[in-house]
Amino acid sequence: MSAAAAASAVRRSILVVAGIGDGSGTGASTARLFAKNGYRVAVISRSPEATSKTAEGINSDGGEAAAFPIKSYTHEEIHSAFNAIKGHWKDSDIRVGVFNAGSGVWKGFLDITEEDLKKSLDTNIVAAFGFARESILAFKDLPLLDGQKKGTLIFTGATASVRGNKVTSAFAAGKHGVRALSQSLAKEFGPQDIHVAHAIIDGGILTNLTKSFNKDPEWEENVAKRLDPNSIAKSYLYLAGQDRSAWTWELDLRPAHEKW
Ligand SMILES: *[C@@H]1O[C@H](CO)[C@@H](O)[C@H](O)[C@H]1NC(C)=O
Repeated sequence: MSAAAAASAVRRSILVVAGIGDGSGTGASTARLFAKNGYRVAVISRSPEATSKTAEGINSDGGEAAAFPIKSYTHEEIHSAFNAIKGHWKDSDIRVGVFNAGSGVWKGFLDITEEDLKKSLDTNIVAAFGFARESILAFKDLPLLDGQKKGTLIFTGATASVRGNKVTSAFAAGKHGVRALSQSLAKEFGPQDIHVAHAIIDGGILTNLTKSFNKDPEWEENVAKRLDPNSIAKSYLYLAGQDRSAWTWELDLRPAHEKW
């Protein structure tokens, strides 16, 4: 093996995950599962505490993670975070990006302010464009990994990605936008060996926050009634491992006993 081949053979893969809320949901579960599967994990989020807590948890568990907190999801800040990630692990390549950031507002249409709408569009759509741009730029000059693809970009969707409802006009507009972005990117970059996927999370996810809202104890205890973020993470790992002959643009995940 040539020195160059030997060097490339040892390059590790990096997962960049953006959006981890308080560190008890999909983003953090994804970070932990990918770390267990040999990825170096870069965590981007707007909460410095949750970001460093998630990274520290992975490191103390024998994985490798680093925190890249940002103030807001502007394109400039996302660009700086990706630069910092590349500088942090020079001997590794960003191979998977998971865009899990989001912003919800649940109000009747006449109560939605221009500010509510802009917040939803900024965090759901503008941020997703910035994250996608940095991920694709990071992937595009890499060699195929295992002869399959240059990288995988996954977006977390919601029921509101495909269905509007009484109090979701601003949230659904944002989530529909992310879905449209992911579909456009899948078409444009599939032929360049970049895998873009969108996951519709069609139900309530069990996190510390949703536990505190939910008054029905069965909702927490019965695994068939809500989505476990660790189970969502398994699907994300599966998407990242799919080969080029049959890969998924969109999947939907819902608990077995969901009523809709
Ligand atoms: C979630 O709640 C549990 C139980 O209260 C707590 O131990 C854990 O630290 C919380 N997780 C996060 C990320 O805050």
